Amino acid sequence: MKRLEETHMLLNNKVALITGGGRGIGREIAVIFARNGADIVICDLNTADIDETNRQVEAHQRKALAITCDISCLCEVEQAIKKALDKFKKIDILINNAGITKDNLLLRMTESDWDKVIAVNLKGVFNCTKVISRLMLKQKSGKIVNISSIIGIRGNAGQANYAASKAGIIGFTKSIARELASRGINVNAIAPGFIETGMTAKLSDEIRERMLKEIPLAKFGTTADVAKLALFLASEESNYITGQVIQIDGGMAM
Ligand code: NAI
Repeated sequence: MKRLEETHMLLNNKVALITGGGRGIGREIAVIFARNGADIVICDLNTADIDETNRQVEAHQRKALAITCDISCLCEVEQAIKKALDKFKKIDILINNAGITKDNLLLRMTESDWDKVIAVNLKGVFNCTKVISRLMLKQKSGKIVNISSIIGIRGNAGQANYAASKAGIIGFTKSIARELASRGINVNAIAPGFIETGMTAKLSDEIRERMLKEIPLAKFGTTADVAKLALFLASEESNYITGQVIQIDGGMAM
């Protein structure tokens, strides 16, 4: 991948919309995409963080547009995409990355913990994909990458809501890949394992050590590891891949 990146810009003059791009994995994807020639639209709840992503994108001489948006609300998503189109006229790539956790064992999990996680992680993906796929269908091209999780494949005690949302993303990815394939649109999912970000920083040392023991490559992943895979799936290098779930987890869930 490094040689590919060195030889040519993989996303020259493409426009990518990244949800939850204010920090963590989403920010890393924004920056690596900008380095590869893409202009970037960030949709995130958190304005302070988005500005920093913008600065990093613009450092690569690409345009950045930050939009404050709650992806769980369809009307906010529609307004955000209208703003993106006013500025860039098209969206070539959608990265459905925003996600949250509200962990608890089933008996202690509240209805609100369940609803919120499903609303952001799963309905948010539906909202953004529904609106943007309409544009991609007209363009007869597009790349959609959904960030799932290995938890959606293997489950995890204390994360029934999160696991259900991430498993839901996998079923959604495969269905939409079938719906959109004939129009030149690729839809794939990435299932990361344990990646060092704000989301995982809050886990206790005990849980971190337990997880490390389960990873054959014996280290946690980085945001750059995930961003490089997203770059490949968003580029023409992956034109013959659709409906796939690619695990990036150091071998944890093989
Ligand atoms: P993070 O918590 O560092 O960043 C998530 C971003 O999403 C934040 O900027 C937040 O403001 C934004 N966001 C949250 N709710 C939103 C909403 N309703 N509308 C718009 N934006 C919203 O998370 P991280 O670690 O970068 O995770 C990114 C994605 O990767 C998530 O979908 C997560 O489930 C997934 N993932 C992360 C793993 C990890 O180990 N960090 C492992 C597997 C999957």
